[in-house]
Amino acid sequence: MKKDIKSVLLSEEEIKKKVEELGKQISNDYRGKELIIIGVLKGAFVFMSDLIRNIDIPVKVDFMAVSSYGASTKSSGVVRILKDLDRQVGGKDLLIVEDIIDTGLTLSYLVNNLESRGANSVAICTLLDKPERREIKMNLRYKGFDIPDEFVVGYGIDYAEKYRNLREICILKAE
Ligand code: IMP
Ligand code: MG
Repeated sequence: MKKDIKSVLLSEEEIKKKVEELGKQISNDYRGKELIIIGVLKGAFVFMSDLIRNIDIPVKVDFMAVSSYGASTKSSGVVRILKDLDRQVGGKDLLIVEDIIDTGLTLSYLVNNLESRGANSVAICTLLDKPERREIKMNLRYKGFDIPDEFVVGYGIDYAEKYRNLREICILKAE
């Protein structure tokens, strides 16, 4: 696995510190509200599991899976819901947890879709952001790190389903 890695972009320690900060902020902002955290499968699952353990107010979790890249490193712009939420979200405060925002096409589709279900609020928490690549303007209420336009893996993020179990976030070698 290590031979495919060009460099470590974010260490375990840096990620841990940031996730703690985000958890604290979210706890303060949503105190007294009915928060549902929605993980976007599969890339966000490691981040989400660490994030919720740094939140000290009651939360419910749910998951959605949408198609994005497949095994290619370019966004297709086509969004398909592969797995929908288990519960209704009318009147609830929703926080979408995502691994990376790249073009923004996937997330802006999800935000519109969840708003149309009558949620009280829909906000985004992304671990990583590639601002250079944005095609749609969006409001990211919680963000871990801005990163350069490089293909990254690790901490739940894959290339062709590999490297999700790396503990750091790494830049993959171009093949
Ligand atoms: P967007 O619709 O272009 O914003 O696509 C965002 C999704 O593409 C993310 O949730 C990731 O699943 C995937 N993605 C974007 N950049 C990377 C990357 O550097 N490594 C792995 N997946 C990525
Ligand atoms: Mg994703």
